[in-house]
Amino acid sequence: MSATHMKNSTARQNWTPGSWRSFPSRQVPTYPDPTAVEAVEERLRRYPPLVFAGEARRLKSHLAQAARGEAFVLQGGACAESFGEFTADIVRDTFRVLLQMAVVLTFGAKVPVIKLGRMAGQYAKPRSSDTETRDGVTLPSYRGDNINGAAFTAESRIPDPLRMETGYFQSAGTMNLLRAFASGGYANLHEVHRWNLGFVERSAMAQRYGQLAERIGETLDFMAACGLTTASTPQLDETEFYTSHEALLLGYEQAMTRVDSTSGEWYDCSAHFVWIGDRTRQPDGAHVEFLRGVRNPIGIKVGPTTSVEDIKRLTTILNPRNEAGRITLISRMGAEKIEQFLPPLMRAVKETGQPVTWISDPMHGNTISTGSKVKTRSFDAVMKEVKGFFAVCAAEGVPAGGVHLEMTGQNVTECVGGAQRLTEADLGDRYETFCDPRLNAEQSLELAFLIAEELTGRN
Ligand code: TRP
Ligand code: MN
Repeated sequence: MSATHMKNSTARQNWTPGSWRSFPSRQVPTYPDPTAVEAVEERLRRYPPLVFAGEARRLKSHLAQAARGEAFVLQGGACAESFGEFTADIVRDTFRVLLQMAVVLTFGAKVPVIKLGRMAGQYAKPRSSDTETRDGVTLPSYRGDNINGAAFTAESRIPDPLRMETGYFQSAGTMNLLRAFASGGYANLHEVHRWNLGFVERSAMAQRYGQLAERIGETLDFMAACGLTTASTPQLDETEFYTSHEALLLGYEQAMTRVDSTSGEWYDCSAHFVWIGDRTRQPDGAHVEFLRGVRNPIGIKVGPTTSVEDIKRLTTILNPRNEAGRITLISRMGAEKIEQFLPPLMRAVKETGQPVTWISDPMHGNTISTGSKVKTRSFDAVMKEVKGFFAVCAAEGVPAGGVHLEMTGQNVTECVGGAQRLTEADLGDRYETFCDPRLNAEQSLELAFLIAEELTGRN
């Protein structure tokens, strides 16, 4: 055993919320004033947690169901949330479309849907380069609103620790509204029609959804006549909605990590579910070390560069107890690569005996640059990757556990294609993302209908 390996295995026995600090870390911001960072982290450590450990455990047991093919994960939200878009309407619109998609999947495929927002904390962004050059001027890259500003000025690009605190409060505000919507009546199944009102009238998807809502209404009336009402069956009146983000900014995640008084174990209470990205999943790196010790359900992004060795080491380090629901592997291969790259990885995981949940991120392997230099994704490529994922899962005998989408409830024009037939020429109309292009409300709903068909094999 090499000396470094020895050092790591020793360190690995002594996990603490801060043990990641002695491991090599990618994508970390360099703050000009470390004492200011410590002061913010000290305050964050005293603030109330955003989630309760019992909720994270409940989500973990739902994810274990998805691993067995008894539930389907719908994880969605913006690539990056932004401080400037912290409004009730934006939160509600994304939540509403996720509910519509969940209804389409639940009713169409007759399977429980785990609703997991990429919301209430999705602020930090990994970047491929530390700097960005525009017209001969080079500045540090934008790393997400909880680190620095998107504006292309030297001042705005300086990492500011106070942004972590703003991120905390905005996550708390978003979380509060999501909880209110999920359990305060907005998500009542009798409201299925109303969620459609945000859509452009007579759009193809609004009509298709309207017909489905009609059938659900009839079903509910029938059930009510049989005595199954909201009063007798509270599940009709509310839904469980969970939050997630990439665990990238480890100082913030550490400050939000607490001992659960019920189990005596550590939980990252910034969200129910956190994941590590394709750029920070080094088995000997800081991000893996941090996630190793928290007991939340966690995700690992898996791309074409992930090796069989990596995936075996990662699942072993991160799930030594072989617990179902602990690890969700999020495949992001690209529509053209998935059938070649995913099967060997699925087989490797099967050999380890790990009960992982496999889900598909059909967004990140399908980002393309257009002539005008903006990034886009084509609806067809996204759908092709989803189909490829279902095909590989079927061939490998692995349940297709869910999808991970970058989407919004707004009527943006960032991805091309879909029933609206958006083209590159339309991208300029409402291209509002701070990071990657998102499916708009109508494209998201269309995708949900297509996924429901895949799930039932009716296509
Ligand atoms: N409670 C069930 C669920 O979450 C049924 C339900 C209530 C529902 N409101 C919903 C399903 C909104 C989808 C969308 O699955
Ligand atoms: Mn993204």
